[in-house]
Amino acid sequence: MTIQLDLSDDTVIVTGGGRGIGEEIVYAFAEAGADVVVAARSEDEISRVAERARTEFDVGAAAVPTNLVDRDEIAALVDATVDEFGTPSVLVNNAGANIAGPPLDMTADEVDTMFDVNVRGLFLLSQEFGRAVRESSLESGRILNISSVVADLGVPAMTVYAGTKSAVRGLTKGMAAELAPDGVTVNSISPGLVRIERTEQVMEEHGDELFDFDRIPLGRVGKPRDVANACLFFASDLADYVTGEDLLVDGGVEFTAGLYK
Ligand SMILES: NC(=O)c1ccc[n+]([C@@H]2O[C@H](COP(=O)([O-])OP(=O)(O)OC[C@H]3O[C@@H](n4cnc5c(N)ncnc54)[C@H](OP(=O)(O)O)[C@@H]3O)[C@@H](O)[C@H]2O)c1
Repeated sequence: MTIQLDLSDDTVIVTGGGRGIGEEIVYAFAEAGADVVVAARSEDEISRVAERARTEFDVGAAAVPTNLVDRDEIAALVDATVDEFGTPSVLVNNAGANIAGPPLDMTADEVDTMFDVNVRGLFLLSQEFGRAVRESSLESGRILNISSVVADLGVPAMTVYAGTKSAVRGLTKGMAAELAPDGVTVNSISPGLVRIERTEQVMEEHGDELFDFDRIPLGRVGKPRDVANACLFFASDLADYVTGEDLLVDGGVEFTAGLYK
């Protein structure tokens, strides 16, 4: 059986789409034919990714500089998408701030930054997206929230970050219940450790103290494409009857609690 995803009727907003996991999510949707809107603060990064999506996959692609801490910029992101491609049908809330450190040393500003981006920004953008879908002629929409496996684990130096990612799961379930009558499904994806530029550096510098790589049941660290594939599933018709769910994409790390020392 061959199943080919065709998302050519979709317009997808990907926050944090300028690098790391988000960049791969953008290309995965573009490869499936969707128009993509790439949002983050770094204009050079989002412009590069949108340009590559456009030229490599022949889809519509726009870069919209957005600081998710700013309410007006969040509203402007949805407005810009509607102007350029029509009402977005998929929102991938991928952007995240991760400031590691012992809880007793964490500053109030660091706490605010993580909650502002990972929780408040994610929620406000989902609100704007939900309103746009409700006011449009679209019969369905999809919100995908990127949480993390650490929401379930007591991982050293990740207390506040883990708290924000637990909040993401709570918001996911509430929004799923509230937006179901609009045909909008809301699900979260919880990656384990994924190899991107930032984590590559952490693994190089502190890999041996922090992780026990031999105890990842599937035998490797995650790739951005592993997360992007889960996004494609939730965004497609294959997941029509799935909402309020969290999917671990972690190589089995959580059920064995093996990776984090
Ligand atoms: N990599 C992992 O091992 C892993 C594991 C579990 C979950 N996750 C989650 O996966 C998601 C992607 O992370 P990543 O690992 O790919 O990290 P990353 O490379 O550091 O990317 C983070 C993205 O979020 C954007 N961002 C941060 N603050 C923002 C703000 N105020 N406004 C708009 N965008 C903002 C960044 O862009 P700008 O700085 O340009 O704004 C960047 O594009 C995050 O939610 C993260 O928590 C990652």
